[in-house]
Amino acid sequence: MSDPRAAAVLVAAGRGERLGAGTPKGLVPVAGTPMLVRAARALEGAPLIEYIVAVVAAGAESAAAAALDRAGCERERAIVPGGDSRQASVAAGLAALGGSEIVVVHDAARPLVGAAVIAAVIRAAAETGAASAGIPVRETVKRVEGGRAAETVDRDTLWIAHTPQAFRTALLREAHARAAAEGFSGPDDAVLVERMGRVVRMVEDSPTNLKITVPDDLRLAEGLLGSAAATRTGIGFDTHRLEMGRRLRLGGVDIPSPRGLAGHSDADALAHAMMDAMLGAAGLGDIGTHFPPGDPAYRGADSVALLRRVGELVLSAGWRPVHLDSTVIAEAPYLAPHIPEMRRRLAGALRLAEAAVSIKATTAEGMGALGRGEGIAAYAVATLVAAR
Ligand code: CTP
Ligand code: MG
Repeated sequence: MSDPRAAAVLVAAGRGERLGAGTPKGLVPVAGTPMLVRAARALEGAPLIEYIVAVVAAGAESAAAAALDRAGCERERAIVPGGDSRQASVAAGLAALGGSEIVVVHDAARPLVGAAVIAAVIRAAAETGAASAGIPVRETVKRVEGGRAAETVDRDTLWIAHTPQAFRTALLREAHARAAAEGFSGPDDAVLVERMGRVVRMVEDSPTNLKITVPDDLRLAEGLLGSAAATRTGIGFDTHRLEMGRRLRLGGVDIPSPRGLAGHSDADALAHAMMDAMLGAAGLGDIGTHFPPGDPAYRGADSVALLRRVGELVLSAGWRPVHLDSTVIAEAPYLAPHIPEMRRRLAGALRLAEAAVSIKATTAEGMGALGRGEGIAAYAVATLVAAR
């Protein structure tokens, strides 16, 4: 039998109330990448899936589209608003789906789903009509009433249902239509097929395809992804010319000098290098992306305030700065006496300890333009970790 063609409905229209992140759950980052994006990438990584319909909360469509675009997701065909219940959201996705033999339904709340289980449910659904990922219950299950164990349930026949679930598209459409007509609402899609008396094949999944519901689930997921995935490094460089009569500001500190750095903002090359390092680590472009050169809003701008803004930008992208290292190359003036105050200012803008903001200074030993004192340059390296 040739491989079936499949499309996916990826539901992310819940409110994420139990996670309590204040943003739609699908846009909450797991180790820096929104759950919706992780789930979409996993679906794209399954070769049998031709396209994806993403279902998001009404009003979150453009934020979701931007996040998927930024991540280079290419196989999404539509982003549609969901409904009041998960079932209504899946129905909205089905309505936007074109003609494909098999539909895979997946929750964005399971961002760690593996490609193998996606392919397995598709193949099982092509054979039997419907399939669900799941895992056998391995722990003792009790029915509890009023805080008291009322019964210890025989777990031999119990499984926990996961997504992905896959269906012949016509069958799932019929199951949703019947449920709607009969006023039935269920927690997943498989149950809508089960109540028609049709077979749903269970496909054993990995417990690592965990569902993110409460904040501790996020920590578990990030632990599974490993600390490497949850740490990013970025590099920044900036240089400005020295001109007579300009104020010299470096690291947010005004330094007595006959010549200062020329530029549209306050030309604080050190703060600029640090901003680029942080933006680079978060994959958010560079200073020019966020503070366009020549924009009158930034004429003479205080770069420490811009650094604070960059701190907020990387945080909203799911990253928290933990350390910055830097080297300033300046033939003159002698910077060492000013470094403690620079560290205080820059660390303050990022709410970091001064020990987490390192500044070193050196000369160019008379070599080249920097050695002739035509300007000052700064390099910075930023380390960010996934924000929790
Ligand atoms: N979902 C949906 N539309 C809804 C409700 C849920 O698309 N009206 C989706 C969620 O986005 C999630 C999946 O169904 O991917 C499973 O739901 P759940 O884990 O309960 O997520 P939320 O409903 O967002 O979370 P909570 O119940 O804590 O608010
Ligand atoms: Mg819910």
